[in-house]
Amino acid sequence: MKGIILAGGSGTRLYPITKGISKQLMPIYDKPMIYYPLSTLISAGIREILIITTPEDAAAFRRLLGDGSQFGIMLDYAVQPSPDGLAQAFIIGEEFIGRDSVALALGDNIFDGSQLTRILGETRDVDGGAIFAYEVSDPQRYGVVTFDADGTATSIEEKPAHPKSTFAVVGLYFYDGAVVDVAKRIAPSERGELEITAVNDAYLAAGKLKVHRLYRGDVWLDTGTIDSMSEASAYVEVMQKRTGTIIGSPEVAAYNQGFLSREDLLAQGRALLKSGYGRYLIDAAGE
Ligand code: TTP
Repeated sequence: MKGIILAGGSGTRLYPITKGISKQLMPIYDKPMIYYPLSTLISAGIREILIITTPEDAAAFRRLLGDGSQFGIMLDYAVQPSPDGLAQAFIIGEEFIGRDSVALALGDNIFDGSQLTRILGETRDVDGGAIFAYEVSDPQRYGVVTFDADGTATSIEEKPAHPKSTFAVVGLYFYDGAVVDVAKRIAPSERGELEITAVNDAYLAAGKLKVHRLYRGDVWLDTGTIDSMSEASAYVEVMQKRTGTIIGSPEVAAYNQGFLSREDLLAQGRALLKSGYGRYLIDAAGE
């Protein structure tokens, strides 16, 4: 399975900050935002990841993440000339995806939780599409899904005024190799974007969209506004200090997946000791 992180977009809800810097390079507590979705994909056992950015920000992402070897993974890069929608990722990534299945992670979504790695591991061999539902107090801000007792989706609506459920669709989507063709067939929405909801609709119509529910113990945060960014930073700070373990570290996720050896992790940790990030890596290596 391949992975894609969508780290383009315009970030208008964070203006004026994101006029000068990509949202996904901004810090969430002690690390750049993109570290979190990167860790999520690595925790799903995914080793080949394409990062899609705006043309202007591409160089900065390459400088930050390089070829991925420091995480024991392979990173590729592509640009999205203009923010024409999430589903465009599959068209931009066509060659990268080939006929493989693929997980798409939004660059501004953070996941944490004890059950998550297990659920992600189970979702890898997807036949059709698989999405995740999280119960929220304000579903009208999100894609909203209903599903039956087997976890098959029965309806999905983008930002409905009158939501049929309180389950929001989170920014992590798994699809089989047919997704490139599906994305090519959908038409732009009224706002002129290739919507991920349209891709999900196509899988739903074929009866092939599975919904995995995330429970309270799993945390999902999106960081698209200044308040949600600062709340996410506070969450990461409190949890890391309280438990002594790091959230959203690609190195630690890679070590847990066996992509990095203990020696690799220690070496990465020693190189980053000055900032404090490295201490967590050394602790994760059990030293
Ligand atoms: P959004 O938060 O929906 O959009 P945005 O980042 O452009 O922000 P704003 O609404 O404040 O203008 O995007 C979700 C994620 O997907 C985010 O990581 C940016 C990314 N994205 C792209 O890479 N390309 C796109 O065409 C869109 C719409 C989003």
